[in-house]
Amino acid sequence: MAVCSCSKNNKSDEDRFIDDLLSRMTLEEKIGQMNQLDPEWDAELKEPLIREGKVGSIFNIVGAKEVNRLQRMAVEESRLGIPLIAARDVIHGFRTIYPIPLGQAATWNPELVEQAAALTADEATSVGIRWAFSPMVDVARDPRWGRVAEGYGEDTYLTSQMAAAVVRGYQNDNRQSSIGQSSIKMAACVKHFAGYSASESGRDYNTTWIPEVQLRDVYLPPFKAAVDAGAMSLMCSFNALNGLPSSANKHLNIDILRNEWHSDALLVSDWGSGSDLVPHGLCADKKEAALRCINARMEMDMQGNIYYDYLAELVQEGKVKESQIDDCVRSILRMKYRLGLFENPYVPEEEPVAYTDEALALASDIATESIVLLKNDGVLPLNLKPSTFNILITGPMADQPREQLGTWIFDGEPEHSVTPLEALKQYQTTSNNIKLLFEPGLAYSRDKSTANFAKTIAAARQSDVILFFAGEEAILSGEARCRADITLPGAQSALLAELHKTGKPIVLIVMAGRPLAIGADVANADAVLYAFHGGTMAGPAITRVLTGEAPSGRLPMTFPKMVGQIPLYYNRLNTGRPTYDPPVLIDDIPVGAKQFSVGYSSCWLETATEPLFPFGYGLTYTTFEYGETKVNGQLPMTNDQLPMTNDQLPMTISCSITNTGNVDAYDVPQLYVRQMSGDFARPIAELKGFQKIFIPAGETRTVTYTISREDLGYWHEEKDGFNSRVWFATDEAEFRFSIAPNAGAAQLR
Ligand code: GLC
Repeated sequence: MAVCSCSKNNKSDEDRFIDDLLSRMTLEEKIGQMNQLDPEWDAELKEPLIREGKVGSIFNIVGAKEVNRLQRMAVEESRLGIPLIAARDVIHGFRTIYPIPLGQAATWNPELVEQAAALTADEATSVGIRWAFSPMVDVARDPRWGRVAEGYGEDTYLTSQMAAAVVRGYQNDNRQSSIGQSSIKMAACVKHFAGYSASESGRDYNTTWIPEVQLRDVYLPPFKAAVDAGAMSLMCSFNALNGLPSSANKHLNIDILRNEWHSDALLVSDWGSGSDLVPHGLCADKKEAALRCINARMEMDMQGNIYYDYLAELVQEGKVKESQIDDCVRSILRMKYRLGLFENPYVPEEEPVAYTDEALALASDIATESIVLLKNDGVLPLNLKPSTFNILITGPMADQPREQLGTWIFDGEPEHSVTPLEALKQYQTTSNNIKLLFEPGLAYSRDKSTANFAKTIAAARQSDVILFFAGEEAILSGEARCRADITLPGAQSALLAELHKTGKPIVLIVMAGRPLAIGADVANADAVLYAFHGGTMAGPAITRVLTGEAPSGRLPMTFPKMVGQIPLYYNRLNTGRPTYDPPVLIDDIPVGAKQFSVGYSSCWLETATEPLFPFGYGLTYTTFEYGETKVNGQLPMTNDQLPMTNDQLPMTISCSITNTGNVDAYDVPQLYVRQMSGDFARPIAELKGFQKIFIPAGETRTVTYTISREDLGYWHEEKDGFNSRVWFATDEAEFRFSIAPNAGAAQLR
């Protein structure tokens, strides 16, 4: 963070600098700072604006020379020489691509995620980018939504840890860098503020209706964690939140962000989210949109031109006070000041940082830790010792250098990807008894052709094991890439079913951008690895796990059995009619069954509420045995829970875990809590802590978590006629705790 010293009038150098500059700016120059443009679009129109000081930020320009060329227009040709800030969607890596954020969440390793963010900032800043439009911290419970790929899953606590880690990696890393020590390397932009992921039916940009207390309990904490970690900016979300699009939402942008959190971060719109107020049906025209956005303190307009076109007029008409504009411009100047742009506006025009050994090694490590073992009937790790071992590599994702990178790849280069096929070929050179057969069977993930089935099945008959690389092309994931059917696309399941008939052991490796409904495919495989879109080094990572490195990934989202169960998440309410016993399923209902004969509990006729795989789930190449959960060192009164009341807070919750197998491995013991009764119905489990711990074979480790009163609180609401009041509090109640390997094992009844 830039060092500021307070002078005698108690103003920091920073404040003095900003106030002085602001006092010398014309209205037009102030409005210019609030304008963010993508010069790739209509460059001939935009470059003159930069020269006239009418652009505050550019984005999607990459390269020190080009950034410096545009920067010189601002610094050396405009009247006040205020530097631009160059931004870019740097989402999960820049040149070196790390797993998609959902995959990074599956590592449950914030330290690794922070390291990846720091190395990403090295690469991005070396080509002039000083502002990354990430981390995206939208807590997502609906895998139909394409952008689940871009966030950290369904849990507020896990997402909050990851959000803060990325902000630290981008902003607080104090290693030597090309932009000088006193500056923050790259500004984070926490998005999308807020509630975007709750879009109805998992359809992007769709409506969100979120009660205030749920907004505060579930969706806002990761933003607060990022703001508390020093995030220098936030981005408005596209969605209407309870009928009010975020760009015009005073409650979000002023009540909460400014008056409650006291954040001085810059708030930028999403791409045209200000002008979108017209199609939203909120504003009659773009001038009104500009008015609604400035009144809700949206401070910079990304590619919408509504501030540039209408703000001056609104000031002249007395509808907008210049002081409102000053508030926004202060945020913009503050970010530029803290990035050191006024002292060093230009980028050293040196060889860009890219694909360093350190970054590639980290990419392999983080991709390895993102892999989740969902099933293993013993076929993994591959037993490569016999005289000859024939491996069939098949499936549409086995050799797809672009697809394995996933969504939001503006600068990652597929030619640097190491695919699973290539990695296995490299591995083959280390042991001459392996013979690789490669028959993809399908050309791409949506391929419906069965033309190559016969050839693939014939190859399978010649093999000792089948590695089936399934999943989604990158284009099926990400913004506006929502799916109403989340099974494997194309003819993948059909090919897998045919291969299953050969009786050969099959390892299914899924490379996708979301949880998929793979229940039928899991049944047709002897082992299943979920590798998400693993990035540049996805191939080596998968090979490391296939050949013996014990997997340590845990699911950051619940995997449903079928799309009809969605939304299906672990921290749900119990309802008044929970389904504790297996329901009578549709095919088991006798013909002519009487109305009251089938039971009345909260489930579906096709399935109960159980998921295919629960949040936090993941196996490894050993087994872990969990002792009883202790509270303040005391054994619980009933099985592994202990009713607690508030007066015993804070307290320690601990558990001993033994590696009962013969392979050293990492485990991720998770602390879940349940409030058994209270002012409001509470979730059946809530994650309140996790650790990733290494436990050598045969050894035992004890994990301990400390729980405070604050940790057990939640947002309450009181309605009084037309008025309502919200407040955060911890009830006097009974709490039960369980340290468990996943949410499904934390039976907190
Ligand atoms: C997009 C996305 C946002 C991104 C921005 C700039 O529409 O919603 O996440 O940062 O536009 O590309």
